[in-house]
Order: sequence, then C-alpha cells, then structure tokens
Amino acid sequence: MTEDKGEDMVPILDEYTLDFISHSVVQTRRLGARLGELLRGGDVICLEGELGTGKTCLAQGIGHGLGVTEPITSPTFILANEYHPPPPNPVLYHIDLYRLEDAVREMGDLGFEDYLYGDGVCVIEWADRGREALPAECLWVSLRHLSETKRGISMTAIGERYRKLLQEFRKNAFGV
Ligand SMILES: Nc1ncnc2c1ncn2[C@@H]1O[C@H](COP(=O)(O)OP(=O)(O)O)[C@@H](O)[C@H]1O
Ligand SMILES: [Mg+2]
Repeated sequence: MTEDKGEDMVPILDEYTLDFISHSVVQTRRLGARLGELLRGGDVICLEGELGTGKTCLAQGIGHGLGVTEPITSPTFILANEYHPPPPNPVLYHIDLYRLEDAVREMGDLGFEDYLYGDGVCVIEWADRGREALPAECLWVSLRHLSETKRGISMTAIGERYRKLLQEFRKNAFGV
C-alpha cells in the first residue's frame, strides 16, 4: 500500500490492523496526538522503523495528546525520558532501544520492567530490538519511508485492550 490515495484512504483489514499514510511532519504529530489522547496508564506503544521514518515525531504527538507541555526530545543517548503531564494524566516514558547492544539482556539489567509494567504510558522506539523483553500485549506501530514527506504507518493491536484502543483511534483520527 505505497500508493498515495490521500488521508481518507484507511483500509480496514480487520479490527486489529490499520494502515495509512502521513503526508507531513505536522500530520504525523497530529495523528500521534489523536492516539495520545486515548492512552491510559500501563499502555505500551511499540515503534519500529528505520532512522528518519518519524518515530520521534509520532512520540512527540503522543506526548502532546497526553498533555505533556515540555518539548519531547529524542532519548537516543539517555535510553529513557520521563514526562509528567498535569494529573490525572499518566506519566510518559519515552524509551529508545537503538543504542542497546543486546537490548533484551540490558533491558533486564537496567530494570526496564519498572517502566513496562508501571503506571505510566510507554512509547518505545526501535522496539523490534527488544521484542522478547517487551510485554505480550501492546500496540505495534511500523513506520516506513515512502517519499521525502510521506510515511506509511501500520498499526497492529496485540491483545483486547489494544484492539479497543485501535478502534477508538480510528474514530478519533479518521472519523470512521
Ligand atoms: N510525514 C512525515 N512524518 C514524520 N516525519 C517526517 C515526515 N516527512 C518528513 N519527515 C522528516 O523525517 C524525519 C523524522 O525524524 P524522527 O521523527 O526523528 O525519526 P526517527 O525517530 O524515526 O529516527 C524528520 O526530519 C522529519 O522532518
Ligand atoms: Mg527517534
């Protein structure tokens, strides 16, 4: 699905998947915000995609949707950044596994379970690098480069919570 048919092109494959195109940075942020608005403490959003596909951009939108007002920067050198939106909104843990050599082992050593099974929302860049150390259920988001300004975004819900979330997101973002 790399053909550009516009934002209203939202193929509904089944209740667990959603595939669409973002046409700009602004749109990716806005779509992230539409998702962020729906998140609850404990939710885990896994982002996969090559460098420059917009993972951080989407995470910034999610933070915005959660009510974070500080600028959200790439956590590449820090592994995890913590943001506190005004209560009652959950804390955002923005995690990046890019720099971990052996992500699965190091995530254990670094105590990532505290983030992954805590009360906050986790948004994880390069999640594919730590797949085995991640919770069984999550919203898996794959981003791909289509052109200089276009990105393909595929979302897969794993588990009932995320099936519901994905349906809510589809309504919130696309009105269908
Ligand atoms: N539709 C789009 N969505 C997101 N980013 C885009 C888009 N079009 C161009 N870009 C550019 O791609 C880059 C994405 O960067 P970033 O979000 O840091 O990616 P990643 O975290 O995946 O490495 C930015 O330079 C941004 O301006
Ligand atoms: Mg990034």
